[in-house]
Amino acid sequence: MQQDLENMVSAAHQAIKAVDNLQALAEIRVHYLGKKGTLTDLLKGLGTLSPEERPRIGQLVNEAKEKIQEQIEIRSQNLIQNQLQQKLESQRLDVTLPGRGENLGTAHPLNQVRERVETIFKSMGFKIIEGPEIESEYYNFTALNIPEHHPARAMQDTFYLEDGNLLRTHTSPTQIHVMETQKPPIRILTPGRVFRHEYDHSHTPMFHQFEMLIIDEHTTMSDLKGILSDFLNHFFESEFELRFRASYFPFTEPSAEVDIQCVKCHGKGCRVCKGTGWLEILGCGMVHPNVLAACNIDSERYQGCAFGMGIERLAMLYYGIDDIRLLFENDLRFLRQF
Ligand code: PHE
Repeated sequence: MQQDLENMVSAAHQAIKAVDNLQALAEIRVHYLGKKGTLTDLLKGLGTLSPEERPRIGQLVNEAKEKIQEQIEIRSQNLIQNQLQQKLESQRLDVTLPGRGENLGTAHPLNQVRERVETIFKSMGFKIIEGPEIESEYYNFTALNIPEHHPARAMQDTFYLEDGNLLRTHTSPTQIHVMETQKPPIRILTPGRVFRHEYDHSHTPMFHQFEMLIIDEHTTMSDLKGILSDFLNHFFESEFELRFRASYFPFTEPSAEVDIQCVKCHGKGCRVCKGTGWLEILGCGMVHPNVLAACNIDSERYQGCAFGMGIERLAMLYYGIDDIRLLFENDLRFLRQF
């Protein structure tokens, strides 16, 4: 019987060593130590032994049982460790790998253009100032020399609010805020959103303008021309001729509309300039004395020049975009090109 026991322990030992998963190990446990297991059978056989032999063999059986239990326990810890190790290996994360980068964002083309414009003007000594988008009629019209019932109010389709205020139709009202609160000399650029009731391939109800304003002694139309051509040559990275056409704005006198030589064909005539060689890009003029007076600026001593330009227009010319609505649809296929 003692021999049987030793054989069994060594057989169990082999089996336990060979096993490679917890499930199989559990089966071995049942096989040797379970209620109907081999050891239990042996214990039952104790009855057939002589009373002298019984305690000695009984103790040997118990020792064999403990040995097997211990081996199973050790193997089980081993297997659990291995499993954990395997899991760690298979789920290994390399935190030093670079990201996939598919969603890297960039500034919207309009913001890129606005930044370019601001950088150029800052380098010429201008301050960037943003005014409110909700204005009173006074700032949007009256102070800009557009009295009530003046037909010029109809030049811009205005969104009125219920409280009598309105969404500004241009960035010119910001000039008034600045002239009311700052003393000349003034050199500012006022970019921002403006609103008009119109919608087609070249108009959206919200768009962006920036306005340049200089108030100083001895300011003339040639300052305006110089700054404009410097700015446009910088912006379009090439030299272009400008053409001033007499025009009308209530807040400037004289007023002009400015055409730039077509930035696509340099004046030869193409689809962008509809064969004319010129592109109309902005309105400008010398600040009207009535506007200066509304801001308590002495128009005998100070003069001003100003222009207002659409950021969408610039972006479309710079990037060659032919429908303004593309700039607002947020189609990623379009935006990813910038
Ligand atoms: N405010 C004018 C517009 O939006 C543009 C402009 C600004 C014209 C400054 C002259 C001087 O149409």
